[in-house]
Amino acid sequence: MKVIAFNGSARKQGNTALLLDIVLNELEAEGIKTEVYNLAGKPIHGCIACYRCFKNKNRRCAVDEDIVNECIDKMIEADGILLGSPTYFADVSASMKALIERSGMVARANGELLRRKVGAGVVAVRRAGAVNVFNSLNYFFFIAQMIVPGSSYWNLGIGREPGEVKNDSEGLQTMKTLGQNMAWLLKKIG
Ligand SMILES: Cc1cc2nc3c(=O)[nH]c(=O)nc-3n(C[C@H](O)[C@H](O)[C@H](O)COP(=O)(O)O)c2cc1C
Repeated sequence: MKVIAFNGSARKQGNTALLLDIVLNELEAEGIKTEVYNLAGKPIHGCIACYRCFKNKNRRCAVDEDIVNECIDKMIEADGILLGSPTYFADVSASMKALIERSGMVARANGELLRRKVGAGVVAVRRAGAVNVFNSLNYFFFIAQMIVPGSSYWNLGIGREPGEVKNDSEGLQTMKTLGQNMAWLLKKIG
């Protein structure tokens, strides 16, 4: 069993990474393999609406010029997908949005590639906008027919500078519980 975590922050070692790590530690403790894929520093562009994925039906984005097809392959082979994003202007980061648009469209064009995989969003925030980010991530999971575990709060952690999220004890506990619930769910449906 495997979970792939995409980190959509521009900072590889920032608060989003720390929050994702807590979820991944809980999954590993339950014997589930994990991998982190950082979008930072890599080229990734939004959907150009060419709809060639619906014609080609080859499980790939027709614009094969950036990391998206590599990400889609990782999603297909995983049992669970974590999408981690910082809050940028009260929404997901641009790179996370690009991943959502392109992988979401390819999944739909190819007979619901992500159907019944387990998915969860993780959000880092300084002050406001995190629940909107959480919603944006969940829209992706739900339209892809994925199964989404909950936690003791919406999956967000508060901090501005890298590492500050460690001071948010409730946020850290939320991630722990999320990891435990995700592991439980994966084992039930796996
Ligand atoms: C372009 C940009 C936009 C941001 N917009 C918001 C925002 O709307 N609300 C907020 O609370 N914090 C905002 N922040 C702060 C980040 O969400 C916060 O520093 C978070 O911890 C970053 O996660 P990271 O360490 O994984 O990069 C913004 C930061 C950047 C760089």
